[in-house]
Amino acid sequence: MSIAVFAVLVAGAVYLAVQRSSVALVMADEPDRRGTTHLPGKAASSLTADIRNTSVKPTYVGREKCGECHRENFEQHAVHGHASTFAEVSKTDLPDAFDKQTFDGGDAYGVYTYSKDDAGNLSVSLPDVDEPTDLPLQYALGSGHSARTILTLTRAADGVTEGIEHRVSCYPNARLGMTVGHGEKQPTRDLERFGDITRGELTQRCVYCHTTTATLTEGRIENLVANVNCEKCHGPGSEHVRQAQSSKNPPPYSVGSDNWDVESEIQLCGDCHRLPRSVTKQELRDYPDTLTRFQPVGMLRSKCYLASNREMKCSTCHDPHQSVHGISHEQHIQNCIQCHDANESTHTLCPVSPTTNCIECHMPTVVQEQGIKFHDHWIRIHRE
Ligand code: HEC
Ligand code: HEC
Ligand code: HEC
Ligand code: HEC
Ligand code: HEC
Ligand code: HEC
Ligand code: HEC
Repeated sequence: MSIAVFAVLVAGAVYLAVQRSSVALVMADEPDRRGTTHLPGKAASSLTADIRNTSVKPTYVGREKCGECHRENFEQHAVHGHASTFAEVSKTDLPDAFDKQTFDGGDAYGVYTYSKDDAGNLSVSLPDVDEPTDLPLQYALGSGHSARTILTLTRAADGVTEGIEHRVSCYPNARLGMTVGHGEKQPTRDLERFGDITRGELTQRCVYCHTTTATLTEGRIENLVANVNCEKCHGPGSEHVRQAQSSKNPPPYSVGSDNWDVESEIQLCGDCHRLPRSVTKQELRDYPDTLTRFQPVGMLRSKCYLASNREMKCSTCHDPHQSVHGISHEQHIQNCIQCHDANESTHTLCPVSPTTNCIECHMPTVVQEQGIKFHDHWIRIHRE
């Protein structure tokens, strides 16, 4: 079976699993045009493996290795949210933030009590739940810029790995609050009083989007390379490193090859940031505020994209290595003006404000639950 066919089959399975579930993360069934991505744990590498077509199977070398030769990308990436979006709770400041705190999860849930043990591990208990009496807080997802949400893995009775997304998250300034999307839930069993439970592929997908590589098995993570590192997007790099060590002009490696185009990039970023096929048709029609979390969905319906021969992509405005939080207001405006330029007659100019504040009016901030903010990537004229 070719890699591509295998990818499509597995991706199909993922979407089916997701569709059947009732969790907020609903994925619709639009077919994948290219069929190369969306394989949990293998998407980026299968995309790039097609391009390289080498007989040696490359392995992961880690971002430190890439940094030896690509210093600037390495240093920029180090302060990007991608580089700190998955951590063991015990290796963060979360045990101190939660220790001895209580949080009322609501009538059907109860009051959580958190405690840190001598080894620095954090756990949570509910007064009338005996099994488990103490649930460890294992992994923190999210860089903390908006939120960090806790994930605990368990092995269900049938052997399937389950993920518990805790009902309480940590927001900026060590504030504890309800996890986004949890307010309206009802627990159906004791374990679920700690948070939302996902199974199998769905749990795999959660870990997939926040790590470079990880295998879930028997309620544990194996082969973990945390965070969205170089090799998540570029594919495992051992062959490239070997070739670069013996030549100043190594053969093309992932992006940069002739096969890499706008569509490849949209598929790459959209694999995690979500494409239209990841949301329901009704959401696509209504475009509720929550859809602004999914930047590709907005960008793809913008006139800027549709009317520019579909040449607009994420990296038209974002260097994939540079955090958006490190970019000046002025640079964002320049990103618009590269097309909407008064010196060129090819594009329309703004009759209201041709040189300033584009973002405020055409990509406004949308505030969501718990004060989390997104910018509406459906670039358009907002008339109030
Ligand atoms: C493997 C999944 C994955 C892929 C692929 C991915 N991202 Fe992300 N991205 C994330 C996650 C997870 C976060 C949240 C980081 C955090 O915890 O704050 C994020 C955050 C971001 C942010 C905001 C944080 C910051 O510091 O700027 C930008 C901008 C961004 N991604 C752009 C991109 C672009 C552009 C691409 C494609 C070149 C891309 N991402 C591909 C998962 C991914
Ligand atoms: C399809 C890929 C995908 C899946 C599945 C996914 N995430 Fe994310 N997650 C992202 C991306 C992309 C972002 C960045 C959002 C942004 O800033 O635009 C993100 C952001 C976050 C954040 C930062 C706060 C926020 O809301 O922006 C947290 C916390 C988080 N995810 C936790 C989780 C947990 C826990 C799971 C599984 C139960 C999960 N995610 C599943 C892609 C994913
Ligand atoms: C979120 C996905 C993503 C991550 C993570 C990522 N890259 Fe990239 N990288 C890209 C994309 C997309 C391009 C092509 C950009 C373009 O078209 O201009 C690229 C281009 C490059 C290039 C060639 C152009 C340049 O900027 O010099 C190098 C070298 C590179 N990346 C190295 C790295 C290294 C080293 C890391 C880790 C420290 C890394 N990348 C992490 C997506 C990523
Ligand atoms: C021994 C030095 C060395 C190491 C280590 C190294 N590279 Fe490179 N890389 C190069 C050279 C040399 C080039 C070609 C010249 C250039 O584009 O800078 C290159 C080119 C690239 C390109 C441009 C795309 C292309 O096909 O030309 C990307 C992307 C890239 N490297 C990513 C990475 C990543 C990711 C890692 C870690 C897995 C890595 N490199 C490790 C030396 C290295
Ligand atoms: C890749 C080129 C490109 C970039 C970058 C770009 N645009 Fe556009 N935009 C276009 C094109 C093409 C149109 C269609 C009208 C025209 O030809 O100018 C358009 C249309 C628009 C419209 C009219 C939308 C409508 O529905 O009538 C607005 C508003 C706009 N752009 C704002 C922006 C802002 C703000 C930015 C920066 C955040 C931006 N654009 C970046 C190419 C671009
Ligand atoms: C026309 C320019 C433009 C394009 C194209 C663009 N972005 Fe953005 N993006 C922005 C601006 C402007 C911000 C807000 C910057 C700030 O914080 O002030 C932003 C913010 C973000 C953030 C931080 C969360 C948020 O929504 O505020 C993420 C993640 C992100 N973009 C991802 C993407 C992805 C993925 C793509 C490709 C599908 C993309 N962007 C395409 C201009 C763009
Ligand atoms: C104060 C809010 C505001 C700011 C700031 C602003 N715009 Fe606009 N823009 C508008 C409004 C309102 C319209 C619709 C005007 C009309 O149709 O009468 C518009 C129209 C446009 C159009 C469509 C023009 C056409 O003829 O169809 C483009 C393109 C555009 N703006 C780009 C930009 C860019 C690029 C910037 C930043 C350099 C920017 N705008 C700054 C409010 C703003």
